[in-house]
This record gives sequence, C-alpha cells and structure tokens, in this order.
Amino acid sequence: MDWFVRAFLKASLVWLSLAVLLALVMAFVPTLTVYRTAHLHMALLGFVGQMIYGVALHVVPRFFGQPLVHRRLAEVQFWAAQVGLAALALGFITRVHGAPFATGLIVAGGLASALGAGCFVVNVWRTIDASPMSAVHQRGGRALTTLPQPDAH
Ligand code: HEM
Ligand code: HEM
Repeated sequence: MDWFVRAFLKASLVWLSLAVLLALVMAFVPTLTVYRTAHLHMALLGFVGQMIYGVALHVVPRFFGQPLVHRRLAEVQFWAAQVGLAALALGFITRVHGAPFATGLIVAGGLASALGAGCFVVNVWRTIDASPMSAVHQRGGRALTTLPQPDAH
C-alpha cells in the first residue's frame, strides 16, 4: 500500500479528533460557537475529505486495473491538503479575534487546499482514462474484470 493512502486515513482521524474536541468546547460553552467555521471545515474537509482522498487513491486504481498515473502528484496533494487545512482553520479561528494575519492565512490555506483538491481531480481522472477498461469501453466492448494488484490481499 502507498504511504500516502495510510497517511490520508490517519490524517482524517486526526482531523476528526480535533473537530470533535473543538465541538465539545462549543457544546459546553455556547459563546465559543464563533469557532463553528473552523469546526465544520475540520470535520468536512478534514475528516470526510481526507478519508475520501485516501480511500479513492487506493480503490480507484484497483477498480480500473490501472496503477495511479501520477504517484508524485498524490504526495504533493497530501502535504498541500494538510498544510492548507491547518492554515485555513487557524485563519478562521484567529479572524474571530481580529488578528491582522488571519485573512492571509485563510487565503494561503484556501489556495493550498484548492491545490490539493486539484491534484486529486487530475490524478483520479487521468487514471480512469488510462485504464485498459476505459479503452475497451470506448470501443463499445464489455468491461474487463478487475486485474489483481501486486499488493492486493
Ligand atoms: C462529537 C461530535 C460533534 C459535536 C459535539 C458537534 C457540535 C457542534 C456544535 C456545538 C456546532 C455549532 C452549532 C451552533 O452554531 O450553534 C456545530 C456546527 C457544525 N457541525 Fe458539528 N459537531 C460534531 C461533529 C460534527 C461532524 C462529524 C461534522 C461533519 C462531518 C459536523 C459538521 C458541522 C457543521 C456543518 C456545522 C455548522 C452548522 C451550521 O452552522 O448550521 N459536526 N457542531
Ligand atoms: C478548498 C477548500 C475550501 C476552502 C478554501 C473553503 C473556504 C471557505 C470560506 C472562506 C468560507 C466562508 C467562511 C466565513 O467567511 O465565515 C466557507 C464557508 C463554508 N464552507 Fe468551505 N471551504 C473549502 C471547502 C469546503 C468543503 C469541502 C465543504 C463541505 C464539504 C465546505 C463547507 C462550507 C460551509 C458549509 C460553509 C458555510 C459556513 C458558515 O456559514 O458558517 N467547505 N468556506
């Protein structure tokens, strides 16, 4: 299994833990719901998003019998997504206190998060297109069964 698949799944669990921690703080102290934007991005983009990134990067190549076409892009995606979301969440939190650097953090984090999402879209899209099954499908033939992967268990 590629290191970035495990890393995305573990990052997703870390984001879930942080989102739930912040959620509990908000639940106990209702005035702290000013941090809801950070909480919801940690939960949706962090937990849900990173889980989907990890599962899809593992499963799509196996569904289509085609190794990921750009492994390096998935590595760039991992770091862009983590650093991006950390900056985005920190920006949302510090903006509440009027920090002068908050908008910069939100813009930089947003761009990095968008870069991560873009890497994912290109990689998965091109992997599907490079698949021998896609070629058969385009010729109007029947799809092949999934080819076994070297590390499939
Ligand atoms: C232990 C688990 C969780 C707790 C205790 C919790 C608690 C909260 C609280 C207190 C708020 C603020 C509500 C308000 O503004 O009055 C909130 C907002 C929100 N939470 Fe959570 N949350 C949890 C998990 C999650 C998860 C797993 C997700 C998504 C995957 C999520 C998505 C959201 C969203 C989208 C909002 C914004 C809702 C809005 O503004 O209308 N939460 N949550
Ligand atoms: C590149 C990734 C993303 C960036 C840069 C981004 C950025 C933003 C920004 C700047 C806001 C406005 C926050 C405010 O001014 O209070 C916002 C709101 C929101 N975003 Fe995102 N977002 C991203 C991904 C997502 C994803 C993947 C989801 C859900 C699956 C999501 C759900 C929401 C929701 C529900 C709101 C409204 C929050 C509220 O009204 O309190 N975002 N986002």
